[in-house]
Amino acid sequence: MTSITVATPDDWHVHLRDDHMLTAVAPFTANSFRYALVMPNLVPPITSMAMAREYRDRIVAAAGPDARSDFTPLMGLYLNDDLVIEDLLAGVAAGVVFAVKYYPAGATTNSEAGGASLIGYQSVLEAMAEAGIPLLVHAESTDPDIDIFDREAAFLETELTPACDAVPGLTVTVEHISTRSGLDFVAAHDGFAGSITPHHLTCDRSDVLANGLRPDLYCKPVINSREERDALAAAAMSGNPSFFVGTDSAPHPLSHKETGRAKPGIFNAPYALEVIAELFHQNRALDQLESFLSLNGPTHYGLPVADSTITLTRAEPTQTRPEMITTSGGVEVRIFGAEAAALWTIS
Ligand code: DOR
Ligand code: ZN
Repeated sequence: MTSITVATPDDWHVHLRDDHMLTAVAPFTANSFRYALVMPNLVPPITSMAMAREYRDRIVAAAGPDARSDFTPLMGLYLNDDLVIEDLLAGVAAGVVFAVKYYPAGATTNSEAGGASLIGYQSVLEAMAEAGIPLLVHAESTDPDIDIFDREAAFLETELTPACDAVPGLTVTVEHISTRSGLDFVAAHDGFAGSITPHHLTCDRSDVLANGLRPDLYCKPVINSREERDALAAAAMSGNPSFFVGTDSAPHPLSHKETGRAKPGIFNAPYALEVIAELFHQNRALDQLESFLSLNGPTHYGLPVADSTITLTRAEPTQTRPEMITTSGGVEVRIFGAEAAALWTIS
């Protein structure tokens, strides 16, 4: 039996949705994580302090009776023409808004209201640099001429590099890094960071495509090659303080996944910690687990490390774990990671 105790983890990137889906999924995050950096890609998107405050209240109400007492949603605002600089600054000063998220329009789920060009928001970015507000970036080109597996690198080169050059002092997190280009970009910029998901750490595109098409593994940016996966895993297990977990847990109804045009997004909140613990265990890197789950993120964002701990224990599986949840509206959602979860208990 293997057992490890770590400071309580934070999830630096999560989609909690709204209404009955929020009620169904929020408890999984609230039971396992202290901070949850919540994505604003609702319909309509969260673009103001008032919307963020109301959404935060709905999340806290949905967190459920078993929520950790230190569970705290941190709110992102969606960067588009509706975002008003004065409102953003007031939202941050009031402790309601934590960061700003940029989605290239059309890149992923609920990104239709996103931007056509990051540099088009230069005045917002300058205000953010001045106030030290983190910019979270969905780094994926929407240029149809660029191969889907090369779109992260393309965005970093053609969109993010010019914006960072034009606005010195910007603090950037490259979200859900899926390739070495993202790792290299972070390494080349002082003070930048990258979040990495459980699924990009443990799956490659053969898992998605080789043995029957797996819509449950379809996400954006898409899961890439084995070489890219291995590089992400090496970065996560290296202890490098620039990299930390962001689950990108993104629930979709099964009927939107197993259909003609599957929606991108993987619901992994229930088993994210177990999946990552198993990866680190298999690679004899459990001594770096706490850095990736619990230390690097808060340190990057200037927040205290949790003063509580959790203990993860590995034993041979005695029972299988559920692979599906059902919302109060009768909607089924598939969960990622049940196999790894059967090996671990968390207390
Ligand atoms: O796969 C994804 N799903 N990637 C994203 O960036 C958004 C997310 C969602 O909201 O479903
Ligand atoms: Zn996301």
